[in-house]
Amino acid sequence: MTTLPRRYHIITFGCQMNKADSERMAGILEDMGFEWSEDPNQAGVILYNTCSIRDNAEQKVYSYLGRQAKRKHEQLDLTLIVAGCVAQQEGEALLRRVPELDLVMGPQHANRLKDLLQQVFDGNQVVATEQVHIMEDITKPQRDSTVTAWVNVIYGCNERCTYCVVPNVRGIEQSRTPSVIRTEIEELGRQGYKEVTLLGQNIDAYGRDLPGVTPEGRHQHTLTDLLYYIHDVPGIERIRFATSHPRYFTERLIKACAELPKVCEHFHIPFQSGDNEVLKRMARGYTKEKYRRIINTIREYMPDASISADAIVGFPGETEEQFENTLQLVSDIGFDLVNTAAYSPRPGTPAAVWEEQLSEEIKSDRLQRLNHLVSIKASERSQRYMGRIEEVLVEVQNSKDKTQVMGRTRGNRLTFFAGDINELKGKLIKVKITDFRAFSLTGEAVEPSVVLLNDQHLTTQL
Ligand code: SAH
Ligand code: SF4
Ligand code: F3S
Repeated sequence: MTTLPRRYHIITFGCQMNKADSERMAGILEDMGFEWSEDPNQAGVILYNTCSIRDNAEQKVYSYLGRQAKRKHEQLDLTLIVAGCVAQQEGEALLRRVPELDLVMGPQHANRLKDLLQQVFDGNQVVATEQVHIMEDITKPQRDSTVTAWVNVIYGCNERCTYCVVPNVRGIEQSRTPSVIRTEIEELGRQGYKEVTLLGQNIDAYGRDLPGVTPEGRHQHTLTDLLYYIHDVPGIERIRFATSHPRYFTERLIKACAELPKVCEHFHIPFQSGDNEVLKRMARGYTKEKYRRIINTIREYMPDASISADAIVGFPGETEEQFENTLQLVSDIGFDLVNTAAYSPRPGTPAAVWEEQLSEEIKSDRLQRLNHLVSIKASERSQRYMGRIEEVLVEVQNSKDKTQVMGRTRGNRLTFFAGDINELKGKLIKVKITDFRAFSLTGEAVEPSVVLLNDQHLTTQL
């Protein structure tokens, strides 16, 4: 038997919440003296941060795990961890299915990784899935990007959408206080980060669980107040937030976004279905009319705002006509992007045991038809950028064409243009858009403003 080096590898599935958790867990491992290993087979600690939103996401984990579990028979000191939403959902059942596992830990336990690993190194097999009060971060996250950063503002979800596992696996809403959020963003600003994305499964619920009520009787700490509170953090040039829930989305928030220059004109507001009856059975708490009103109000304040969303097709009992109402909504609104999914029955959710489940054929046919429309509409939206000069925050080199860099417009469109990543990374560059595809743009840097921006950059540093 060989002794494995103190190296770790993390494989992350699922949403931005999981990505943010993985970055924090990587920070804890680095703090414990572990080093990143690009090759999982060279790592002594392998952590799968899992997602259970749909069955196919969950199955992926089992196939990956099987391979590493086999390796453990030759390398007994290999430590195998399953974290995230499948860990929370399956708990001890995971140990029965994969006895080689050392640690099964739910998302609320991410910040406790060091303690839990200590118990593993003491010779225990550990399951940590009980509901806990989430500890404030004590370790610095090991972030993937040096330009853009996730900042959790609220954990959990108190909604009960009838198709969704998230409340079961992420627990109840827990908001972080405005001051710890601001402190984290100030630190990011000092480190040279330019953009933050505030994260919550239902970000409009931010602050509901914090103490304090205003004289008018509303919660003292709301997402809107938080945006005003963090807006002047030095160094941070752009602020985004996700995910918005149409049930709680307010005009006050829209006004704040229009007023605050750093808040980008991009809104991610899932509608799930364009049919009122289906929305009711999903327990979403709004109608398609309310959804349209929200989008109209956003566009009154910010005519060029980008709108993205999530949608589900083939919810139990969805008729062809109800599905066509979803197509109608997508066609009318003109989304910049829609993440689409075929309904997948999830354990422990009400809709999973309803009788009127649709066949896989119907679901995949509807998914294809919706995707087709989504990409036509996205392409129309991309076209509006042609010839315009957009501000792009440069993030990385284009992996397919090393002569190009990749960044995003304020509306969150991926944009490629010729340039040297070493020179441009983390800079806001004015780019003239010369070509478009459904979900991305190509352009060229407008030279005078590159110089101007660099000068501005220098003056702020002085
Ligand atoms: N909190 C966000 C979404 C979280 S889950 C919201 O309220 O919109 C991300 C997306 O996964 C959802 O928007 C939904 O479109 C999709 N999703 C969730 N459960 C699903 C299921 N059982 N089957 C298919 N898609 C699902
Ligand atoms: Fe799931 Fe609904 Fe909560 Fe979103 S709001 S995470 S869809 S339960
Ligand atoms: Fe998946 Fe959990 Fe996110 S189920 S979508 S990783 S909250």
